[in-house]
Amino acid sequence: MALLLKNATVYLNKLFQRADILVTADKLFVFDKSANYNEPIESVIDLENKFILPGFADVHVHFREPGFSYKGTIRTGSLAAAKGGYTHVCTMPNLNPPPSTMENLQKQLDIIERDSCINITPYGTITMKQDGQSTLSDMEKLAPYVCAFSDDGRGVQTKALMEDAMKTAKSLGKLIVAHCEDETLLGGSAIHDGKLAKLMGIRGISSESEWRQVERDVELAAKTGCGYHVCHVSTKETVEIIRQAKKSGVDVTCETAPHYLLMCDMDLEDLGRFKMNPPIRDSSDKEALREGICDGTVDMIATDHAPHSEAEKSKGLLKSAFGIVGLETAFPLLYTNLVKNDKIITLEKLIQLMAENPRKRFGIPGGEIRQGAPSQLSVWDLNAVCTIDSNDFADLGKATPFEGWTVSGKLRMTVSNGKTAYVEKGLI
Ligand code: DOR
Repeated sequence: MALLLKNATVYLNKLFQRADILVTADKLFVFDKSANYNEPIESVIDLENKFILPGFADVHVHFREPGFSYKGTIRTGSLAAAKGGYTHVCTMPNLNPPPSTMENLQKQLDIIERDSCINITPYGTITMKQDGQSTLSDMEKLAPYVCAFSDDGRGVQTKALMEDAMKTAKSLGKLIVAHCEDETLLGGSAIHDGKLAKLMGIRGISSESEWRQVERDVELAAKTGCGYHVCHVSTKETVEIIRQAKKSGVDVTCETAPHYLLMCDMDLEDLGRFKMNPPIRDSSDKEALREGICDGTVDMIATDHAPHSEAEKSKGLLKSAFGIVGLETAFPLLYTNLVKNDKIITLEKLIQLMAENPRKRFGIPGGEIRQGAPSQLSVWDLNAVCTIDSNDFADLGKATPFEGWTVSGKLRMTVSNGKTAYVEKGLI
């Protein structure tokens, strides 16, 4: 049974064009006069004034199973992803048990199979205990089932261990995806060590704790030939190190997140919903990240969607848990601020950053609308204006620094693998 989406403006073959799209169980078809389909059409939806975009892919989310289902589950996380227009996410491995052996990973794979409404590829850990310092995980056995290896949440603390990890990942044809944080350079409190920390008379988390490890790792990537991807880049120094490494031919890519592109430390309030790791830094870092997305140094935007319980997020900036949710707000925030208001990127570029580039780097299929493409897409009303309200979120975590922001862009539907993973009431 197929679904016919009529009269939309479609990002078809990388151009915005008016077209009718037929959604079948496995493929998308452009429905024109030459179309020759035998499959019965179950329903027809008129999408006049709506946009059909590819389903987005987020290579950095935390769905909390197994181990921490009170914060969020694979079911609630995948619903949040679908509600944000995502059809593929990669789940980080700070879980209990961590996916460092096949036995542990299988627990997560079983829940994904049972509960997810979109595609999920999990990460395997780099180290056995996902602590950035123990011995390497069972990388060889995990490799066929994971998108890459990461200890996200912890930086790999020694050069020797990272070199071993890179050599092994290279031999398996896998990426090393690094949360860069040198634990000897952290500083005291949970905010960036910048203007705000000075005003408050405290020491914050230094930029150096991030960029020192990036500097070390791009050298190791050059030496080992391993594909290397840097998580949640937050500092101007990191952007410059990656820019130079790319110029000299190192196989390096990176992501940043909406909060680093849209906020700086002077926007912080003493509330848990402004706390994440790395922290929101100063305006010069924000500008450097914006330059990075414009010149291609920053390859993709990921959310670092990290739900926590209300109790864990209600202890102010200093005592709350690190992590905010982002899947349900990323596209409207970025579209409104970077495309529509500030005009620093085009909508086509935003689609590259959120749908095409992550898939290219991580070998994930889809990301385009064309004849015979995988049956994944998102439908947006780009003129609808709404206010971000965490009470509407599908995931259990509600902490967002963007609470109350006004955005343009409302999701009407997400199709993942031919099924409506999300559809607004009344649309069908
Ligand atoms: O803010 C964060 N939250 N940063 C991380 O690296 C981990 C994440 C989490 O798991 O909550």
